[in-house]
Amino acid sequence: MFLRSYRMTGSGSSATTAHQRRLRSKYGAWALVTGASDGIGKAIAGQLAEAGFNLVLVARRREVLEALAADLARQHRIEARALALDLGQRTAVSTLVSATEDLDVGLLAAVAGFGTSGGFVDGLLDRELDMVDVNCRAVVELSHHFAGRFVAQRRGGLILMSSLLAFQGVPRAATYAATKAFIQTFAEGLRLELSRSGVDVVSCAPGPVRSGFEARANMRMSSAASPQVVARQTLDALGRRTTVRPGFLSKFLEASLLPLPRRARSQIMGVVMGGMTRHQNGSKEQQDGGLA
Ligand SMILES: NC(=O)c1ccc[n+]([C@@H]2O[C@H](COP(=O)([O-])OP(=O)(O)OC[C@H]3O[C@@H](n4cnc5c(N)ncnc54)[C@H](OP(=O)(O)O)[C@@H]3O)[C@@H](O)[C@H]2O)c1
Repeated sequence: MFLRSYRMTGSGSSATTAHQRRLRSKYGAWALVTGASDGIGKAIAGQLAEAGFNLVLVARRREVLEALAADLARQHRIEARALALDLGQRTAVSTLVSATEDLDVGLLAAVAGFGTSGGFVDGLLDRELDMVDVNCRAVVELSHHFAGRFVAQRRGGLILMSSLLAFQGVPRAATYAATKAFIQTFAEGLRLELSRSGVDVVSCAPGPVRSGFEARANMRMSSAASPQVVARQTLDALGRRTTVRPGFLSKFLEASLLPLPRRARSQIMGVVMGGMTRHQNGSKEQQDGGLA
């Protein structure tokens, strides 16, 4: 674990729009964002800083996190802590819990995650299991701890990352789609279970998003939503909806796929995934096993 704190207080930006004031009053003063070094997590962190939240930023890349924490602290006059952790490691969440015990955390955005693609039997088993650990096990562990804190304080919010792929099996991304189906179901259950305790849960189920995800999953996306749009719509949906499908593409695909039987949806998603992984054909190209 590596923790560094950046503090910049004064008359910087604070919640000014109704959207920002709602977030601050329901979930302030601290938010914990995993996967904050890139993509959707980074965009969520930026928008929360703009709303005046103090932040704990978690991912593996220490230098990237530190630069972001320093930048957000300076720009928005908040306090930001950078915590470098690999959430695939069994001890990561307990380390994170100890590092945040002194903070009034009201919002958990469990965004860290990654995908794999290609034939299941051709892939590395360790990498598939690491993905289950990061995408599912760490999220359950984090949610268990922070939902407990939120229930005790009778307020709080959880943002969990699902996907368009969560709603059917997907050939050539079978394990990844299954991790997201797990999160989708988990979020739906928690949302109802915790609603009477004043704790909000939202599942974010985007289609393709332009981020570090594509390279790490060894996919090629022809069209994708921006992380900023995903972040904005997800924060807006927290406390209002169970599932948000940010961006035009995810809404369009939802409308097209939802009326179809599950098997047909799987077949269509198999064709889509075939297109996204066509460049792998005929090569023994390995999926990236390291940082995106
Ligand atoms: N992009 C899409 O098309 C898409 C679509 C649907 C759902 N999603 C979901 O959205 C979430 C965010 O993805 P993204 O698009 O923002 O991808 P991204 O740009 O690759 O960001 C992933 C983030 O997770 C962190 N991370 C990955 N493995 C980690 C580990 N073992 N420990 C700690 N942090 C880790 C990465 O930081 P480090 O590399 O520094 O550790 C990075 O900050 C994921 O859960 C993904 O499944 C993405």
